[in-house]
Amino acid sequence: MNKNKIIYGDCIKKMQKIPKNSINLIITDPPYGDNVGYGLNNKKIKNNKNPLMNCLALAEFYRILKKNSSAYIFTNWKHYPFLTEFILRYTKFKIRHLVVWKKHNFGLGWAFRHQYELILVLEKGKPKYHLTNFSDVQNASHINHNCKTHPHEKPVDLITKMILHSSKEGDLILDPFCGTGAVCVACQEMKRNWIGIEIDEKWVEVARERVGCL
Ligand SMILES: C[S@@+](CC[C@H](N)C(=O)[O-])C[C@H]1O[C@@H](n2cnc3c(N)ncnc32)[C@H](O)[C@@H]1O
Repeated sequence: MNKNKIIYGDCIKKMQKIPKNSINLIITDPPYGDNVGYGLNNKKIKNNKNPLMNCLALAEFYRILKKNSSAYIFTNWKHYPFLTEFILRYTKFKIRHLVVWKKHNFGLGWAFRHQYELILVLEKGKPKYHLTNFSDVQNASHINHNCKTHPHEKPVDLITKMILHSSKEGDLILDPFCGTGAVCVACQEMKRNWIGIEIDEKWVEVARERVGCL
């Protein structure tokens, strides 16, 4: 398996090549399928027109995760009901918890300005959790984007906490929708092995530069 690499391509096809029961942890931030443009530049991300892709991804997640492992999936209040309904009806995952990421600052808008996102914690078997002070409300700054940067870049410090909670040194962590590679950067810092997959060449380049491998 290609460890510690950002793989360019469609994660559904790439994950089909990953052997079953081989990944210790998945942390990922898939497109929510709401076809929304973000920020003043109305930026769009690939494959954001249809939430069904997440269903295909979830089936692969369960297959490739080792027994007694977790998956942390970013979502928002609009996408959450669809996702949980699918997980409960059609996968073998147990939904362990819903974590709120509270941002220090709120985003653009007017009547109800966004200041939180959600993170679903899924379990295959009975995973171990290492921290005793992991709150289900996590505080971390939102990363502002401009016309050149990714509209959904996630803070490395937030991801580091999930890594510490659900893995140990040397484990293999996957982010199949890796964007600019925040999960991969956090894994490098925490001495975990990692695989990032991204379908947009532009973000592959940024992620590879961040982790220092071309
Ligand atoms: C919400 S963003 C993730 C951003 C990331 N968390 C970061 O910190 O930069 C979702 C990413 O999934 C990518 N994507 C969409 N469909 C994909 C697919 N089938 N395979 C791999 N990546 C895909 C998009 O191009 C986008 O960059």
